[in-house]
Amino acid sequence: MSRVLLFTGKGGVGKTTLAAATAASLAAHGRKALVVSTDPAHSLGDALDVRLGAAPSEVDTADGLFACQIDPRGLVDEAWGELRGHLRTVLAGAGVDELDAEELTVLPGVEELLALAEVRRLASSGPWEVVVVDCGPTAETLRLLSLPEAFAGYLERLFPTHRRVVRGLLAGVAGTGTVEKWDATADALSRLAERLDSLRTMLSDPSSCSVRLVLTPERVVAAETRRTLTALALQGIRVDSVIANRLVPCPGSARGAAATWLRTRRHEQDAVLAELTGIGEIRTVDHRASEPVGVPALLEVASQLYGAEDPLPCAAAVSESLLEVSGSGRGLDARYSLRIALPLADDTELDLARVGDDLALTIDGRRRLVALPSLLKRCIVTGAEMDSGGVTVGFRPDPSLWR
Ligand SMILES: Nc1ncnc2c1ncn2[C@@H]1O[C@H](COP(=O)(O)OP(=O)(O)O)[C@@H](O)[C@H]1O
Ligand SMILES: [Mg+2]
Repeated sequence: MSRVLLFTGKGGVGKTTLAAATAASLAAHGRKALVVSTDPAHSLGDALDVRLGAAPSEVDTADGLFACQIDPRGLVDEAWGELRGHLRTVLAGAGVDELDAEELTVLPGVEELLALAEVRRLASSGPWEVVVVDCGPTAETLRLLSLPEAFAGYLERLFPTHRRVVRGLLAGVAGTGTVEKWDATADALSRLAERLDSLRTMLSDPSSCSVRLVLTPERVVAAETRRTLTALALQGIRVDSVIANRLVPCPGSARGAAATWLRTRRHEQDAVLAELTGIGEIRTVDHRASEPVGVPALLEVASQLYGAEDPLPCAAAVSESLLEVSGSGRGLDARYSLRIALPLADDTELDLARVGDDLALTIDGRRRLVALPSLLKRCIVTGAEMDSGGVTVGFRPDPSLWR
């Protein structure tokens, strides 16, 4: 399995440029590297100044560097399009009317998840030591992996039951042909569920996968960056660095209108970066006079980004262990606390509920289930406190479950 580095961030901040620069630099360090774009707004070819197809090909200006762009639409048509067609026919056959069937077969996030599943396939089957992914503004999508109402969750939680129910319905109203068709469709859906499951495993394994979050130092970005970090931490996805791109150069003590403009702009940018405390070291890249296009220009960007360091490991892990349990006292008098480390903004809205053996955390309207460690499953929640570094939830033993 190759190491996977995912570059994400808002549109236009420089994800493609920095992903390409990182991959070019990895190859220059003698590592066999593949850079893949899964962003439907492909611009990886433009950054590398080469034509790219869906299959990895070696970039002729850099030894050991391979590149490709995955077409999510094509994948969807391939894997999901046909399935969807089957599913619709089958559902209609079972008496679900056309409109409902259409609704049931449109699930959010399918495209991006399929594109990432394709990345996983490349990472587990290819000869590459590192796969760098220009994944577009995907952080939003990653949360779909664990939302029960979204595609992956649907397949995992509801589909097995759904599968049996529909089969039963069909057996009653339709011929054997339709039942067989349903079985084939259902098998294909199960395979899809397996693919998504291995994708989730890859994403949440810090030794194989990490995220590099790209931002530009603008006011609006600071709060959003924290939210993205929170969302990723909730998924158990490790962010290994935050990169601020397009810092305007410092004009020093030069005079004149242009120098004043640069100084003012740079002060503003520095102020924004200073606000982003508590998320670890932020690497920076200057705003270049011309667009970094082509391998030589990208290598210059990379040398500013990583210095003489190897671009692969990033020492400072921004989000490390998410859950930590501590406790005191014995038996029924014991008190435990669960620390959920998350970067939270001051105005974060947090809601907490116990759902069976899980803790449902809703942060700014996004829900995520955190599986409780077994010790805490036998406890009652006594309270919760929030600070900028996370949430601490208090527990005491539930007398009816404690022995
Ligand atoms: N540090 C930089 N200095 C100058 N131009 C840059 C820099 N980083 C990116 N650009 C340019 O900005 C544009 C957007 O960058 P890109 O990497 O495509 O962003 P994204 O992938 O996040 O949408 C491109 O034209 C790119 O060449
Ligand atoms: Mg891009």
